[in-house]
Amino acid sequence: MTNAHLTIDPQFAIGAVRRRLFGGFVEHLGRHVYDGIYEPGHPEADEEGFRRDVIELVKELGVSTIRYPGGNFVSGFRWEDSVGPREQRPRRLDLAWHSTETNEVGLHEFASWLDKVGSDLMMALNLGTRGTLEAIDLLEYANVPGGSALSDQRVANGRTEPFDVRMWCLGNEMDGPWQLGHRSADDYGKLASQTAKGMRQLDPSIELVVCGSSGAGMPTFGEWERVVLSHTYDDVDYISLHAYYQERNGDLASFLASSTDMDHFIESVITTADHVKAVRRSDKTINLSFDEWNVWYLDRWEGVDKITGIDNWPVAPRLLEDVYSVADAVVFGSLMISLIKHADRVTSASLAQLVNVIAPIMTEPGGPAWRQTTFFPFSITSRLARGNALRLPIESPQYDTTVYGTVPLVDAVATNDPETGRTAVFLVNRSLTETITVTAGIAALGDVRVLESHTLADDDVNAKNTLQEPERVTPGEAAVAIADGVLTVKLPPVSWTAVSLG
Ligand code: AHR
Repeated sequence: MTNAHLTIDPQFAIGAVRRRLFGGFVEHLGRHVYDGIYEPGHPEADEEGFRRDVIELVKELGVSTIRYPGGNFVSGFRWEDSVGPREQRPRRLDLAWHSTETNEVGLHEFASWLDKVGSDLMMALNLGTRGTLEAIDLLEYANVPGGSALSDQRVANGRTEPFDVRMWCLGNEMDGPWQLGHRSADDYGKLASQTAKGMRQLDPSIELVVCGSSGAGMPTFGEWERVVLSHTYDDVDYISLHAYYQERNGDLASFLASSTDMDHFIESVITTADHVKAVRRSDKTINLSFDEWNVWYLDRWEGVDKITGIDNWPVAPRLLEDVYSVADAVVFGSLMISLIKHADRVTSASLAQLVNVIAPIMTEPGGPAWRQTTFFPFSITSRLARGNALRLPIESPQYDTTVYGTVPLVDAVATNDPETGRTAVFLVNRSLTETITVTAGIAALGDVRVLESHTLADDDVNAKNTLQEPERVTPGEAAVAIADGVLTVKLPPVSWTAVSLG
């Protein structure tokens, strides 16, 4: 038996956990929108063609802000195509995913779906193949109450009240050579600054996210952030981060330590942003929007589901439909721990993505919708992580990994809500073989009891939920006890656990 120890004390607050940390991402990609959230012929479809069963699962997942409509898709997107009478909307070729976009679901329909799931819109702009004017036009269409050509057009299209979109992404992954309209940090920084200034002339209250790197492994990482922020520091509120993790070469031990890479990525971007702040003698602090994160078996799919051919542009093909295991969900849970550990600076994040496409929710056309393994750490963390994130001094045994060096076997973070007095602790055990008993000093919390607990683990770390077996993996109760101001939690090998106290 192996032991670890930590102390939970509300005095060690890192910062408030914003609801926006539990955001999602819906891209017009594969079967995400069509045959995912929207399937008019489905028995569960509502009067607008949205699947009620999917709406219920998205609500249960607890996603706050939803980034839309891409992703790589957005860099070829003309927003005007997606509004107005549906029968007049053009079918367009989506070059990013080699598919046909019918524009059957556009801004108005998506906003209506967001109302149903109770989430806010985070709009991504096309700064790849379009520019400042089109961005300002969309802002006018979305946020101006009326009395101008585009706001009146919105009213004529059936939406009297403005959409009042708060968060706007200035493009997507502009550092990536795969991106339509990819450009240098210098060129992008100038365009983003000019666009941000124009948008703020129209609506000073909006919040703007400038593109950071599409991964810490990009050759331009670090320098990209420095140059882009040098151009845009005064114009934006956030810089974005994107990261996807996967098990490579059967090295589960390294894969389980992926969140140490996320920690390092976040801390590097904070350092770079604060360097620009220092150089500019600025009082302003730029926060981080981790607006794409997940486990994604990119290598596995490389070339496999790639569609090619000038005469082959399918609507809603099956793309990026990763099926997640218990081990994937444990890594996923640890990525959420990393986000919360940095809650003072990561004030917005978007799980990429939501339905069918590298997603916690899967659907079958005409058939059921179900929860992937990754659904559980997200829904439980989103529900329980309230108030302030707490720094936890952890004494944990360590292990050696090929990719990330020596890493603690246990990682954890806690939150404490001063309003309700409730505390939640989230833990991960990265050991492949050992149950770890964690003792947590909780005297500072007063007289508390366990309100609920959940552990995700399985004898088969490769177990998955599928169409045939949609409930093969579900979390069980954790092995927890409280005595003499000490919480004891037993963490099975390769497991993620949440405990709520109050
Ligand atoms: O989430 C899938 C893709 O990953 C997005 O379209 C893109 O932004 C990223 O490379």
